[in-house]
Amino acid sequence: MGILEILKYYLYFLVVFFAVVGSYQEVMAKSSHINTAIRHYFGLTFFVEYTVADPNNLNSFEDEVAICDYQVVTPKIFFQEYVSKYRPCLFKNYGRQWPAYEKWTNESYLKEMAGEEIIYAEQQKDNRFAYFTEGAKRAYLTYGEFLDKFKEPNRKFHYYYSFEDPPGPLKNDIVNPPIMDSIFKYTQVTFWQGYGTLTKPHTDAMENMMCVFEGYKNFSIVAPHERKYVYAGYEGVPDNYSPVEFVNPDYDKWPDFKKAHLRTVHIAPGDCLYLPAYYWHQVGSSPGVSIGVATWYKTHHQAADFMQFAMQKHIV
Ligand SMILES: *[C@@H]1O[C@H](CO)[C@@H](O)[C@H](O)[C@H]1NC(C)=O
Ligand SMILES: *[C@@H]1O[C@H](CO)[C@@H](O)[C@H](O)[C@H]1NC(C)=O
Repeated sequence: MGILEILKYYLYFLVVFFAVVGSYQEVMAKSSHINTAIRHYFGLTFFVEYTVADPNNLNSFEDEVAICDYQVVTPKIFFQEYVSKYRPCLFKNYGRQWPAYEKWTNESYLKEMAGEEIIYAEQQKDNRFAYFTEGAKRAYLTYGEFLDKFKEPNRKFHYYYSFEDPPGPLKNDIVNPPIMDSIFKYTQVTFWQGYGTLTKPHTDAMENMMCVFEGYKNFSIVAPHERKYVYAGYEGVPDNYSPVEFVNPDYDKWPDFKKAHLRTVHIAPGDCLYLPAYYWHQVGSSPGVSIGVATWYKTHHQAADFMQFAMQKHIV
C-alpha cells in the first residue's frame, strides 16, 4: 500500500470518527437542533426518548391493559402491536397449558416434589417487600419449612420466596412462554411465592412475562416515560423505586402523580401478563398463598436501556 492510499484511509477514518462523535453530541445535547426539532414536532424532550418507541404512541393511553389471545396473537403481531409500542398485554389462560397450573395448588404435591430443597426467602417484619429496605434479610430454609411458615398463627416474620429458580423438580412443570422466546433473548426464570405481599413500586430492566398459578396478583402500573410523575429516587429510595403508594396514592404529598396514567391489571390463576421492561409496577398479591413465575428477557429496546441508565445516573 502506498503512502497516499494510507492517507486516504486515514482521512476516511477521521471523517467517520468525527461524524460519529458529532452526531453523538448532537443527540445528547438538549439544546441541539435535532432535540429542539423533536420537542417541536413530537412534544418529547429528548432524541433518545424518540428512539425508544413510536412517539405518536407514547402519548396515547388505553384505559385498560389490552387482552391478548395467545391462540391468535402471532409473534409478528405481538411485536408490532405491543412490544414496539410499549404496550403491556394480559394473555388470558396462557399459563393453563402448563402442568404447574393443575399441580401447584396442591401443597402435598409441592412438598413431595421439593420439600427438602434448600431455598432462601426474603424475611421481613412487615409484608412490604423491597430488597433495599432496612431489616430485609435472607433466610435459608427448606422449601417444606417455608410452606409451613405461612401456617404459623401470629407469625413475627413474613417471607417471600422471590428472584430464584422454582425449587428443584418443580422447574419441570413450566416452560418458557413461546411467544416471548420467539422475540427476545431469555435471561432468567424467577419464582414468586408469598402470602398477601405488597411490593414497593419499582422498575426492572427486563421484559417480563408473569404467569400466576395460585392466588392472584394485581399489578398497578405506570409507563416508563412517565417517570417524571412517580418521584423516582425520592425519600432515599433507589432510582428505580418510587416512594408513592400506587395502590393508595397520597396526592397531597405527591401532586405530580395525578398526571400519571395509572392502570391496574388483575392476573388470575392461569393468566400471564406481558410487562415491557422499565414499566413501573407495584404488585399486590391475594390475601392467601400466591405463586407466580416471571420469565425475564433481555429488552430489545437498546435505546431504552441506554436512556434509563442515563436517567438513573441523572445525565439527562
Ligand atoms: C396432591 O398431591 C399428592 C402428592 O403428589 C397426591 O397424592 C394427591 O392425589 C394430589 N391431590 C389432588 C387432589 O390432586
Ligand atoms: C385486586 O384487584 C381486585 C379486582 O380488580 C380487587 O377486588 C382486589 O381487592 C385487589 N386485591 C389486592 C390485594 O389488591
